[in-house]
Amino acid sequence: MDPADMGDDLERVLLTEAQLGARLDELAEQIDADYAGKELLVVGVLKGAVMVMADLVRRLHSTVQMDWMAVSSYGSGTKSSGVVRILKDLDTDLTGRHVLIVEDIIDSGLTLSWLLANLRSRGPESVEIATMLRKPEAAKVDVDVRYVGFDIPNEFVVGYGLDYAEKYRNLPFVGTLAPHVYSH
Ligand code: XMP
Ligand code: MG
Repeated sequence: MDPADMGDDLERVLLTEAQLGARLDELAEQIDADYAGKELLVVGVLKGAVMVMADLVRRLHSTVQMDWMAVSSYGSGTKSSGVVRILKDLDTDLTGRHVLIVEDIIDSGLTLSWLLANLRSRGPESVEIATMLRKPEAAKVDVDVRYVGFDIPNEFVVGYGLDYAEKYRNLPFVGTLAPHVYSH
């Protein structure tokens, strides 16, 4: 999909496919350097992180293992509550592993801080976080994030894995939606 395919549903493009790709090149280089000589387990958080995960791991020069988790944050609509339920757990034992959690977006930080504590309790050697997007103004808890793609304004965004009512995940860019989309 490109902006023209969205008709008047798109308000504006916040980050182009080229911008996302260029930033991922940089993050992959950092990750390769930081984990040189180590075996890395990359954990993607479904469903939003699918795009970042696919694009990031393909840029790494080291061999990594990939696993997935699906969590659901209780709360209505677009706000998360910090009470999290595991819908799909990892297949991998984390004991002694170097784990890198890959996220699409950190908003309040509540989901991720829960996830971090949960994974840390499983005896890994290390746990770090990579997120494509972060909304600093929305932070409710401080989460130590090693790799951040872009800090963005406190607006609801879609695309590159992120959805509104399960739509727009397959946009290759990140954008905001026109108000009329939310009102029906
Ligand atoms: P918290 O607030 O716990 O939220 O950091 C993280 C999860 O909330 C969703 N989220 C968004 N989804 N556009 C989206 O499509 C957004 O702007 C947005 N902000 C938060 C997302 O599932 C994320 O993992
Ligand atoms: Mg998500």
